[in-house]
Amino acid sequence: MIPKSSSSRWYERSVLYQVYPLSFADSNSDGFGDLKGVISHLDYLNDDTPESLGVGAIWLSPVFKSPMADWGYDISDYNQIDPKFGDISDLDILVFEAHKRDIKVLLDLVANHTSSEHPWFKASRSSRTDPKRNWYIWADPKPDGMPPNNWLSRFQGPAWTLDEHTGQYYMHTFLSQQPDLNWRNADVRQAMGKMMNFWLERGIDGFRADAVTSLLKDAQLRDDEPNPEYRPGTDEPSERNIRTRSEVRTESVDIITTFCEIMSKSGDKLLVSEAYLDIPGMQELYRACDDHPLHAPFNFNLIGLGWSAAGFRSFIDEYEASMRPEDIPNYVLGNHDRSRVVTRVGYDRARLLAMLQLTLRGLPVIYYGEELGMTDIDVPPKQQRDINSVTSQGEGRDGVRTPMPWSTDDVITTTDINWLPKGINSGQLSVENQTTDPQSMLSFYRHLIHLRQTLIALHRGSYRSLQTSDPDVYGYVREDGLQKCYVFLNFSPSPSSVSVGRIGRWIAGTHLVDGDGETLEIPELTLEGYEGRLYELRRGEKL
Ligand code: GLC
Repeated sequence: MIPKSSSSRWYERSVLYQVYPLSFADSNSDGFGDLKGVISHLDYLNDDTPESLGVGAIWLSPVFKSPMADWGYDISDYNQIDPKFGDISDLDILVFEAHKRDIKVLLDLVANHTSSEHPWFKASRSSRTDPKRNWYIWADPKPDGMPPNNWLSRFQGPAWTLDEHTGQYYMHTFLSQQPDLNWRNADVRQAMGKMMNFWLERGIDGFRADAVTSLLKDAQLRDDEPNPEYRPGTDEPSERNIRTRSEVRTESVDIITTFCEIMSKSGDKLLVSEAYLDIPGMQELYRACDDHPLHAPFNFNLIGLGWSAAGFRSFIDEYEASMRPEDIPNYVLGNHDRSRVVTRVGYDRARLLAMLQLTLRGLPVIYYGEELGMTDIDVPPKQQRDINSVTSQGEGRDGVRTPMPWSTDDVITTTDINWLPKGINSGQLSVENQTTDPQSMLSFYRHLIHLRQTLIALHRGSYRSLQTSDPDVYGYVREDGLQKCYVFLNFSPSPSSVSVGRIGRWIAGTHLVDGDGETLEIPELTLEGYEGRLYELRRGEKL
């Protein structure tokens, strides 16, 4: 059994909700979401009643000044808000209003690279002797004029672009408009630390750190190894090599340690870092902040897991077993880079996964619109915005970033001004349409989040998986002192039965249930296809 965590840090009983500001809510009808839009919907996120979603923290994808080559992930001024989103006073108001509602606010920390429009890069590229030259990664061409090594951009082509003016190449893990900072340079570290403090002092509660495994690269710029499993024509061209040198994870981990040191001086903060890693890899990142345990690497593994009760159980058991008491487990089903969960697995399975995510230990992370069952939208070529769609290299991400549907009138019109089109099913999926329907996805999320906050066993209880008599059913118990919560999830499309016993009262589930609410003990439980159920048992309780 996993010991429960010893302390009571705020993020141990919260749900983290990713707001993608460009699409969340548009207050001035210019087609782009903005900070005032987010402020106007804070009550939706948490108004301290079970009628709101009840999230305890939001993470805003970047809202800083940016030419928007990568929609905010190319920052040209870390200390200013991009006019598309409003200004710094809007952010101050957002933080103030969020805190009034007990919502913490995390900003995106894009530390690996800046925009090529950032004054640092402009200075750096101005001459080989500029004091900022070494803030970025520059190298001479090979004798034949080709890039210095075989490193590939994660988006397209080589990770190097020639700067004609100074005759050297600069390195970029992503777009050429996103030059990588040189984290081996102490001045860069200092400048970024200063920037973090700037926001921490304004009262934000933490950061989501972008692309952390890329922060440091081989100092000698040696070639990456070829990927023996690469299938030309099938895999992304950017996967031709294994990033053995263009990403030196073990060294990048030290930078996360410095992030934690900076943040630990500002009180009770949270750092969540973006790294697509297996369990040992995640452990390496957790250990980066042992002295200041305020950090968790996102656990993206559920996104790619094959669909089986046994597979989910064994992954989660192993992940749980790898945790030390101070570690914060977390579960992610989607984000602005990945296909939406309903599109990947279908509506019924997505509902089951929501139940799993919201009844496990730690920090569930919800991508805006997951709570409505939003799907990927097919964005017509003329309306595509993501560089990855526009260049038809790699998978475009526009379809997972479409506007949040708030009202039933949210239907497509010919005069649509949104930066990305709404989905055809927007009105139907809208908050307005789902809000009073007790069976809707939104009501389901609200109910489970509310239960998670009110039931001690769910927000801080231990986790133990159960041996069930049917391999299609994944069962586990969450326990804290006098309270136990039993969860049973049927991964099969057909009904499944499991022997149970004293599991308490049915309190929530993916399906409506008759008659079980008053039973404490049942010999056998029959679940419909893709049905999930939550039972609560209090020690010594009798009917
Ligand atoms: C991260 C972001 C992604 C962005 C990239 C470059 O992976 O999630 O959206 O394009 O970093 O900043």
